[in-house]
Amino acid sequence: MASAPARSGVPDAVVAGHISLDIHPELAGPVAYEPGRLTVVGPALVSIGGSVANTGLALHRLGVPVRLVAKVGADLFGREVLAQLAAIEGRLASAIITSPDEATSYTVAISPPGVDRTFLHCPGANQTFRAEDVRDETLAGARMFHFGYPPLMREMYAQGGAQLRRLLERVRAAGPATSLDLCAVDPASEAGTVDWQQVLCGALPFVDVFAPSIEELLFMLDRPAHAALQAGPVLAASVDRDLLAGVADRLLDMGVAVVAVKLGDQGLYLRSARDGDRIAAFARRLGLDPAAWLDREVIAPCFEPRALAGTTGAGDATIAGLLAALLRGEDPADAATSATAVGAFSVEAVDSTSAVPPWPDVAARLADGWPRLPLGIALGDNEGTERSPTGTLTLRP
Ligand SMILES: Nc1ncnc2c1ncn2[C@@H]1O[C@H](COP(=O)(O)OP(=O)(O)OP(=O)(O)O)[C@@H](O)[C@H]1O
Ligand SMILES: [Mg+2]
Repeated sequence: MASAPARSGVPDAVVAGHISLDIHPELAGPVAYEPGRLTVVGPALVSIGGSVANTGLALHRLGVPVRLVAKVGADLFGREVLAQLAAIEGRLASAIITSPDEATSYTVAISPPGVDRTFLHCPGANQTFRAEDVRDETLAGARMFHFGYPPLMREMYAQGGAQLRRLLERVRAAGPATSLDLCAVDPASEAGTVDWQQVLCGALPFVDVFAPSIEELLFMLDRPAHAALQAGPVLAASVDRDLLAGVADRLLDMGVAVVAVKLGDQGLYLRSARDGDRIAAFARRLGLDPAAWLDREVIAPCFEPRALAGTTGAGDATIAGLLAALLRGEDPADAATSATAVGAFSVEAVDSTSAVPPWPDVAARLADGWPRLPLGIALGDNEGTERSPTGTLTLRP
């Protein structure tokens, strides 16, 4: 189904939340932290990151009219964030708030060749982002609202997540469907001490699509399973369908309509509610067929990238693919296909979004018979499983 023609100046989607400036020094080899030592490095790649830049710009590149809402400081990094957005398209910077008394969030990515990367992250102005920072005028006409990275936004998780709940409740009352993404929690930080189950219980009744990664989700809901995932050689060694269905059920019980769990190189697991009223309330906002979305369980393995350049922000691009699919009116199997297709485009460039093409190019590659990566996750009883022409599996719940 073709997306609706852009109404001038009216966004189809609003993406709000975390934004940062990412600084990637070019490194020839491993760097050890040794007090007193000087290490010569190469030039830095400086790019915008965070949920708003990654998911927002991936949606923009797919052709979805989008508005971005985030907060930066009145400093060098903040001016750079605004300049990079404005260079893509002037109006992308127009709803970004500049806060005079705060620092712009930044990340230093230490990513030597062949070694697992590590990040130094300053959440900066994201820490004080509040529900009121998303203004009613910004939401006017939008059909989808996406919010990302509450674990790096203190106001959003403080007091049991009251601001996050308030924001999502307000947005939903204004009309758009809502979507929420998480990010990894630093266990040694303040966010590591938060009762995330309580935050999710408050927020999820106002979330239509919840799209965390399996790691983030298990950290919040199942610490033993999280520890097993961290210790395991590959994801499929500790994650199977029973585990996914179990956590999805808990989230559906908290009130969300659709759970979409990102599984790294194992793709995407999608589960929708059995409650007809909950699905109807979600489907109505997007003009979706409620029968197609009721009680579905789908797994979409990854599409094989031409070359794996980098997985930074691949999850955010996958969410953009999913949200764009919902705006086109797709069913769960097609939406999971579209999400993983956009995710696979994303890993073909080092950054999150520069390899994401306009939607017709994604559709053309899909129509061409794009191979999938093998699925290692045990699915248990496969009876009744349907395979779509592109290889997405619809399981029998
Ligand atoms: N090797 C790969 N080949 C193709 N697609 C991939 C590959 N690895 C990841 N993806 C895609 O990217 C998504 C990334 O999922 P992941 O679980 O890493 O999310 P994430 O941790 O939220 O990522 P990030 O926060 O870095 O964006 C997968 O759902 C899949 O669509
Ligand atoms: Mg992510």
